Amino acid sequence: MNIRISKNADEVSRAAADEFLRLAGEAIRADGAFSVALSGGSTPKRLYELLANERDVYREKLPWDKIQFFFGDERHVSPDHADSNFRMANEAMFAKSPVPEENVHRVRAELSDASEAADEYEQTLRNVFHLADAELPRFNLVLLGMGADGHTASLFPGTPALNERERLFVANPVAKFNADRLTLTLPVINNAAVCLFLVAGSDKTETLRRVLDDEAQDATFPSQLIRPMNGELTWLIDEAAAGDLQKR
Ligand code: 6PG
Repeated sequence: MNIRISKNADEVSRAAADEFLRLAGEAIRADGAFSVALSGGSTPKRLYELLANERDVYREKLPWDKIQFFFGDERHVSPDHADSNFRMANEAMFAKSPVPEENVHRVRAELSDASEAADEYEQTLRNVFHLADAELPRFNLVLLGMGADGHTASLFPGTPALNERERLFVANPVAKFNADRLTLTLPVINNAAVCLFLVAGSDKTETLRRVLDDEAQDATFPSQLIRPMNGELTWLIDEAAAGDLQKR
């Protein structure tokens, strides 16, 4: 596990953008393609803006036509809703970049039945990754955030999706929101080549300390269940979230 501490949330986003550029270059040189699952949240938004807006540093260097964009999770809302992760990524990045429309795979979360939206997205994953029946997709990069309750993607503490072992993408009822979320499952996230957490803000310090302390590996903090089986796990953290982590 790699842990890198940056000064603030902006620096975390920049470190993530550098990592994105490096990983995309490597994957495209090796396989001609790069697949990424995006996350929602405020720090990723800044990352997406950097990739699309900073011409000389990122935008001109990224082979946008060779990048397949997916979503690690989505809210059960239409794509023009203020809470939509697609809307956020679209406004911050897709609309401002030369990415071909067919390379952006969004969840059709406007469907009234969340399970149907999840089934459809699972099928999209199967098609784009050319998967046989029991195969899992292997993303080059899964971007993740962590909530103060320890959730990651839309895997919230105590929710059914944490127990899912067969499916790739599911609707996950989250009692505290009285709503469904749509999310990649643990087997898929843990099959990625790289899982990259972006964590900023002092409201995360205590949870982060416990997640990284690594004693009990249980579902108290879903973020602790992210353990790439044959890949890398990197945490990009700002000083506020790190607390006294540096000293220890
Ligand atoms: C979402 C996310 C979610 C997010 C965390 C952290 O759809 O909200 O994918 O898992 O990453 O809630 O969000 P922040 O980085 O904004 O704190």
